[in-house]
Amino acid sequence: MSQHTTLRRALLFMPGDSLRKIEKAIGLGVDSIVMDLEDGVAFSQKAAARRIVVQALQTLDFGRSERLVRMNPMGSELAEDDLRSSIVGRPDGYVLPKAEFAEQIEAVDEFLRLEEQARGWPAGQIKLLPIVETALGVMAVREIALASPRVDALLFGAEDLAGDMGAQRTPAGWEVFYARSAVVMAAKAYRVQAIDQVFFDLNDLAGFEAECRAGRQMAYDGKMVIHPRQVEIAQRIFAPSEEEIQAARRIIQAHDEAQAAGLGAFALDGRMVDRPVVRMAEQVVRKARAAGMMEDA
Ligand code: COA
Ligand code: MG
Repeated sequence: MSQHTTLRRALLFMPGDSLRKIEKAIGLGVDSIVMDLEDGVAFSQKAAARRIVVQALQTLDFGRSERLVRMNPMGSELAEDDLRSSIVGRPDGYVLPKAEFAEQIEAVDEFLRLEEQARGWPAGQIKLLPIVETALGVMAVREIALASPRVDALLFGAEDLAGDMGAQRTPAGWEVFYARSAVVMAAKAYRVQAIDQVFFDLNDLAGFEAECRAGRQMAYDGKMVIHPRQVEIAQRIFAPSEEEIQAARRIIQAHDEAQAAGLGAFALDGRMVDRPVVRMAEQVVRKARAAGMMEDA
């Protein structure tokens, strides 16, 4: 279980009423599979989607992929049926769209607590991944992050936010940049993962890769993805490269030697290295280990 929570470079969404897409996702080695009951599913298909998601959870081997269900917005008419019907499949967690208040998340937390107790499952194991994608959600991002110890990641939804605000989406994305920053900042402050916005152009893989890089530079840990061809790119960009790992190891080693010689700051290849630089290098090494890219434990 905890093997899942460490690495979420790509979260692949698919409509929950498409067993074919769920099956396809399983073969991809993607970190997280998100079976959607919300906006990817037509209203007439909600009940069918619940049945298919439970069937998938109960009968398919997801390998190393995390098994997530995206329910309808908390407090909506659909949400309670989503939870009641899907819990029997024992997903690893729920993605919570349009999160705006702590009380919404607390209610799901309480539902899960009772279910875990009644079913004899370990307490607190089922995770929550709220999506911040409304103006109210952005204003409440701290309270959302802190609402439950189950909250394991904050997801940023640019498209819904633009719709909620009446902003117009642009390729550069400055209209949502404050919110994209606020979500990653809260995630880092409260020590949960940050998962970046969806990229909608399925054919622009260069644009997708550039957006992955920008998200990673902002400290996002991974990205929501919507097509198999986005998976490999996201999982590559959100893991450190071999060169980054080598450079990080050199910095850490040089720092250890400098400390032994009584030096806090020193020069390496003509650049100053001090504590913040070492801390960034340590983050790279931690990520590489989590991604299984370094043998030494
Ligand atoms: N997950 C798993 N498999 C997927 C997939 C996804 N998100 N998107 C496409 N595939 C599969 C298709 O089933 C197809 O396989 P097949 O021909 O063997 O059936 C293959 O990948 C190629 O798909 P393609 O023809 O390029 O796309 P499409 O026209 O079938 O579907 C979308 C396009 C946008 C409808 C589809 O990518 C999708 O459903 N994305 C996720 C939508 C979603 O969940 N939205 C809500 C969250 S933001
Ligand atoms: Mg949405």
